[in-house]
Amino acid sequence: MAESNLMDKLVALCKRRGFIFQSSEIYGGIGGFWDYGPLGVELKRNIKDAWWQDVVRKRDDIVGLDCSIIMNPRVWEASGHIEGFTDPLVDCKNCKARFKADGVFGVAARQGDDVLLAVGIEASEAEGAIAAAQSGANSKTRRRLEKAGDKVAWSVVRADKRSSANDVVCPACGGELTDARTFNMMFKTYVGAMEDSSSMAYLRPETAQGIFANYKNVLDTSRLKLPFGIAQIGKAFRNEINPRNYTFRSREFEQMEIEYFVRPDEADQWYKYWRDARFQWYVNLGLRSDKLRLRDHDAEELCHYSSATADIEYAFPFGIAELEGVANRTDYDLSRHQEYSGRDMKYYDDETKERFIPYVIEPSGGVDRATLAFLCEAYCEDEAPDEHGKPQKRTVMKLNPRLAPVKVAVFPLVKKEGMPEVASGIYESLKAVGVACFYDEKGAVGRRYRRQDEAGTPFCVTVDGQTLQDQTVTIRDRDSLAQDRISADAVVEYVRAHVGGVN
Ligand code: GAP
Repeated sequence: MAESNLMDKLVALCKRRGFIFQSSEIYGGIGGFWDYGPLGVELKRNIKDAWWQDVVRKRDDIVGLDCSIIMNPRVWEASGHIEGFTDPLVDCKNCKARFKADGVFGVAARQGDDVLLAVGIEASEAEGAIAAAQSGANSKTRRRLEKAGDKVAWSVVRADKRSSANDVVCPACGGELTDARTFNMMFKTYVGAMEDSSSMAYLRPETAQGIFANYKNVLDTSRLKLPFGIAQIGKAFRNEINPRNYTFRSREFEQMEIEYFVRPDEADQWYKYWRDARFQWYVNLGLRSDKLRLRDHDAEELCHYSSATADIEYAFPFGIAELEGVANRTDYDLSRHQEYSGRDMKYYDDETKERFIPYVIEPSGGVDRATLAFLCEAYCEDEAPDEHGKPQKRTVMKLNPRLAPVKVAVFPLVKKEGMPEVASGIYESLKAVGVACFYDEKGAVGRRYRRQDEAGTPFCVTVDGQTLQDQTVTIRDRDSLAQDRISADAVVEYVRAHVGGVN
């Protein structure tokens, strides 16, 4: 399946089946904001639960935290976000469209003094800009370019590096662009009745700083010793200039972050540990294809405070992009908070009698990006036999059972002969133990299976004529399509054993 096709089909399925909706759609939506429907919220919750179980509950060295979204603005001075969390942008003086200055290129093609093409193009790098300019040109220009062949001289100028206004024009209307200006991506608000600079506050752009601000509280109220971590899941807000690629770059999103505090001389070893452990976490939950990869940053790419960073990336249909970053943040954050707050952030090692500021290893992932990657990986089209044994095309979401929104659906084969009563009994016993389940008695059973396949439900239990004689039911596996007969009494245990401990 072509990758652009996959994205279109996935977006359509997510809307049709209630995974993801555009925010405030009835009013025309709002760019960069998304809502999760009944199936989507379960999938997202299961991803967060799996993370919390694996990094907090199953470990002795990590505790959780839930900080407020709005914090004292000094936090963002200390973290460097007020000064440095900026993007350069340019505006079109004509149509008022706004672009990231490092994502707009002026592309020109000349043959001698003759200008064959001069356009503004949005692209992530210069090579992509030339290709986009060529493919977007009209047929007359394309013919002229082809005719000129090797004689064409191409030039590409990025908007923030231009020497004259004519070098780069608006990609939307061809109008003149303003000079690049820096733009802080933090959303601002006011706390209390006054709306002036003294009451200005920010919606947090990352959950990490709440952890650093509480590092001493956690240390003083627990018996943790280095190495130890503090984990948090929560909303973050960034006024992205160009929200795009569905939920991938949103303005409101959720992060799941660990700040893992270590002795400076052990930082390298813990960095490698988390880099590998976090990669494996995605593999274990189903990102098994070669679309998942781990990429180390080279020296020029590192943030000023980081001594090593690796990105866990996924090849989405729109390109390879970051799911999670793992960084050695050194003692930068705690040192800055010590300086700005005046509070002592040192750790006292009672064995070595040393006092020092710990280093921090930070695995920082996005819940929405993980959700999108699991959805992309799960989408599959194959064939399954209908109730007459005839092969029919089906769309199936092969989600890991631990993440699937609904674990099991229960059907009576027909709506008579006591089958609905038996099926409802099984459904009630699943609900009683908290298994996410669904009851359906409407329409042909083949159609009911296909609805569950689209929702990613790993198991379907059907009560049929034989159930009434020997109290067995069929249990159908979504992926292999195998149908086993098991005792009706064994359904709850069977499902619990196969869904990996998360309801
Ligand atoms: N505390 C470090 C930090 O926030 P980041 O790379 O800016 O680092 C971490 O963000 C993760 O948050 C990213 O890997 C991504 O999964 C998610 N994320 C960042 N910006 C996002 C956006 N605009 N929309 C959705 N997820 C985003």
